[in-house]
Amino acid sequence: MRKKIVAGNWKMNMNLQEGVALATELKAALAADAPACDVVICTPFIHLATVAGITEGTVIGLGAENCADKAKGAYTGEVSAEMVKSTGAQYVILGHSERRSYYGETAEILKEKVNLALANGLKVIFCIGEVKEEREAGKQNEVVAAQLAGSLYELTAEQFANIILAYEPVWAIGTGLTATSDQAEDMHAFIRGEIAKQFGAEAAENVSILYGGSCKPSNAKEIFSKPDVDGGLIGGAALKVADFKGIIDAWK
Ligand code: PGA
Repeated sequence: MRKKIVAGNWKMNMNLQEGVALATELKAALAADAPACDVVICTPFIHLATVAGITEGTVIGLGAENCADKAKGAYTGEVSAEMVKSTGAQYVILGHSERRSYYGETAEILKEKVNLALANGLKVIFCIGEVKEEREAGKQNEVVAAQLAGSLYELTAEQFANIILAYEPVWAIGTGLTATSDQAEDMHAFIRGEIAKQFGAEAAENVSILYGGSCKPSNAKEIFSKPDVDGGLIGGAALKVADFKGIIDAWK
């Protein structure tokens, strides 16, 4: 059975003290009321080592929001997958649309990042999704298929077992516009079909596919009710424990 997952993506929010307070409050909330799904928080690099001390031994998994496309060396300002792993983190988000569009991360660069993350024992939350114009032109399936093929299709089925997919229509991220649950299900079912073709039926059955884009407590239950939606990747609503917990509780 594939995992149900609610993952938070803090993006570039929260200084260290604020992040520690948020993680501590979340830990208390989930200790008092255990989740019915896996819970992950993905934080800025500078939080990881400290937050790992808070989440260790709890139900909360920890991830980074990015890692370098190089293993090590003279790459000033970069943070490698090995460094992420050494903090105690277990996950890394790769391919987020903000990284693709603002920082020019191509399918080729993302392929390197995915390979390094997996080689260092991290699970990858790999984001895919179309922009508004692509959806309006009816090209969303084509775009998402190319994103999958461009960065993941050289993996073995064994490596692919450490990939979590996150379908995030770019037009829904941070906009308050959510995909309808039917739009999400259509795309998630399409993605699962593509994964079946490439990696086989078992891999497709086992891969968790999260929805992301203006997910909140009021719409999470409806979106998560669809058979191919295995949880959410949550931006804005992950910054307040009440909202994030509200989404986690959609699995109850
Ligand atoms: P949002 O962001 O929930 O704020 O729309 C989701 C994401 O970008 O991962």
